[in-house]
Amino acid sequence: MKRYLITGGAGFIGSNFIRHLLKEDHDLECIVNLDVITYAGSRENLKGLPDSEKHILVEGDICDQELVIGLLRQDELDTIVHFAAESHVDRSIHGPAAFVRTNIQGTFSLLEAARQVWQRERQLDGDEVRFHHISTDEVFGSLETQAAAFSETTPYAPNSPYAASKAASDHLVRAYGHTYGLPISITNCSNNYGPYQFPEKLIPLILLKALTGELLPIYGDGQQIRDWLYVEDHCRAILQVLKQGEVGETYNVGGNNQLTNLDLVKTLCTILNEQAVDSPYKPHENLIQFVADRPGHDRRYAMDITKIDRVLGWEPNENLLSGLTKTVRWYLQNQDWLQAIIAEKEFGNWLALNYETRGDEE
Ligand code: NAD
Ligand code: DAU
Repeated sequence: MKRYLITGGAGFIGSNFIRHLLKEDHDLECIVNLDVITYAGSRENLKGLPDSEKHILVEGDICDQELVIGLLRQDELDTIVHFAAESHVDRSIHGPAAFVRTNIQGTFSLLEAARQVWQRERQLDGDEVRFHHISTDEVFGSLETQAAAFSETTPYAPNSPYAASKAASDHLVRAYGHTYGLPISITNCSNNYGPYQFPEKLIPLILLKALTGELLPIYGDGQQIRDWLYVEDHCRAILQVLKQGEVGETYNVGGNNQLTNLDLVKTLCTILNEQAVDSPYKPHENLIQFVADRPGHDRRYAMDITKIDRVLGWEPNENLLSGLTKTVRWYLQNQDWLQAIIAEKEFGNWLALNYETRGDEE
């Protein structure tokens, strides 16, 4: 039976993963969800969990090593799945310090806690415990138009403070596996989308703005390419790596859905035109506005997912159209969630900071 410590489980992917575990992991005994509830986390994301008595939220900081040691000891937790992070590239440009603290020092704190309790105190091995770290394709940098997709052996070349802090945390996790024999694994994933995503990220931001008739900000020329994965597919990949993946290995996870930001936003608008029948702002693509680019903006990401497919038989279930259709439907049906999140999180301040000085793209 598995006893999980999930960090960052009140955020977007973490809360989806907790739902997935509660539904799909028949070996699950309990989940301790350690989340400090920053602007990006919310108790709203944890409402209506299935089998909710197996889940407990501990409001605390991953940098608090004594707290983490206490949880691992008292609750005899054997599996850490580490989502907690500062996750937004634009915020890392405005304020990188929080990214260094949470993403690097926070990961270090968790690794030290695991080493203390699992290795020094209990002498547990790789069959009994696992430290799984959630990372990103952004650690690999930016691809030229014709360059091959990132593989697990592509050298790291992070470009934003966010990506650099994630790269540093990946290196720490790998080093603890190599040096101390801590049973670790890592997944590097492309852009996720789906229910419960905070509306600072492109897809929910566009939906939010389109529904209120505001302009839809596209950075630069909108020709940057991202690879999009429906969040439930990411959750399945993580659970599969936990169950069947090898200790010490890293796996790339992606959606095989690469397109430009402009095409993505146009597709979203088309779906919204069909689903939001009564919207007075149709056709929503008329709201598109090009604004000044993100400094250091990576041009293209693409993930080679051959390894996880070959070794674990994982591939995405959703294609872009099916995933976006589900996502638009979820946001339309969960307007209360969206309004609660915006009200709770002083979202207006962020919009003012990030967008008001941008102006139109020259
Ligand atoms: P998110 O910003 O929605 O959620 C992050 C969560 O971590 C929040 O609930 C927040 O309160 C919590 N948190 C932040 N600092 C903390 C601290 N010091 N202690 C405890 N909790 C803290 O992020 P997300 O989009 O769900 O991403 C989760 C993870 O997945 C991150 O590590 C991110 O780098 C990675 N990732 C995200 C994507 C994506 O597209 N969103 C893609 C690949 C990898
Ligand atoms: O690639 C994985 C990464 O995907 C994760 O590691 C990050 O945590 C996650 O935030 C995401 O990073 P991006 O920067 O790619 O996501 P974002 O939704 O912020 O932006 C997607 C693209 O859209 C990017 O090229 C920037 C552009 N964009 C974004 C916003 C918010 C716009 O054109 N306008 C916008 O207003």
